[in-house]
Amino acid sequence: MKQINFILNEQQITVPEGTTILEGARSVGIVIPTLCYHRALGPSGFCRLCIVAIETSTMKDFITTSCNCEAKEGMRVSTETERLKKMRLTIMELLSSGTNNSSDIKRLTLSCSKNYNPLNKDDCILCGLCVKVCRNIIKACALSMDSIEGGNNKVAEYVRFNEANCIGCGACASLCPVGAIKVVDKGDQRRLYLYNNRKKSFELLVCSSCSSRYTTFEHREFVLKRIDSEEKDQLRTLCPECAKRYHAASLSVFSPLHKELFQ
Ligand code: FES
Repeated sequence: MKQINFILNEQQITVPEGTTILEGARSVGIVIPTLCYHRALGPSGFCRLCIVAIETSTMKDFITTSCNCEAKEGMRVSTETERLKKMRLTIMELLSSGTNNSSDIKRLTLSCSKNYNPLNKDDCILCGLCVKVCRNIIKACALSMDSIEGGNNKVAEYVRFNEANCIGCGACASLCPVGAIKVVDKGDQRRLYLYNNRKKSFELLVCSSCSSRYTTFEHREFVLKRIDSEEKDQLRTLCPECAKRYHAASLSVFSPLHKELFQ
């Protein structure tokens, strides 16, 4: 694969063609703050925290987001100029003004400024990570980004919940940087909250091997439908950890002792 050479904070970096500036920076341990980027989901370009300053033969001090900008041969990139620091701080203040003091936002704001003074509002920052993971990775399509007409004809976006499609896997909550989506497991129940409203409750299944409560019926059936395995019936009653051990024990390279664990 063709390699690209560019300068990042006065350091020469070589990366495969097509690599973004953000991934190039990460490959050499340079930290650029991000909020809406996740390697498995690709860039959204929403939060703009990952801004960097670029210099090429045709432009100077051009500010762009690094998560969706490819590194180009000969490009010079700076991640920490005074202008960038001020811009990032403004972005963080805007983002934190619409959140409920989430720890991720607090951590990022503190990394941009010592004067963190968040407002108390419960709202998501519309980064879209929850929608992407639900639609592109889990493929349940229980969340979507929607719009409503506000005052002065402004259009506000929000996350719409499709109850019928939700399987209670909790992937959305695990990626939400501000806690606008939460999954709470209590006893035999899993509850899903969006914007502090309970949206759906599920019963948690019990593993037949270790007796732990591990996921919802809807999630298990959703996953099993996609598995082409003769062992579906055994897997149906096991949590992921015990299922892994079951697979290991069923391989011939393991001793009969492992197999006994499941008899
Ligand atoms: S991380 Fe690049 S725009 Fe959010």
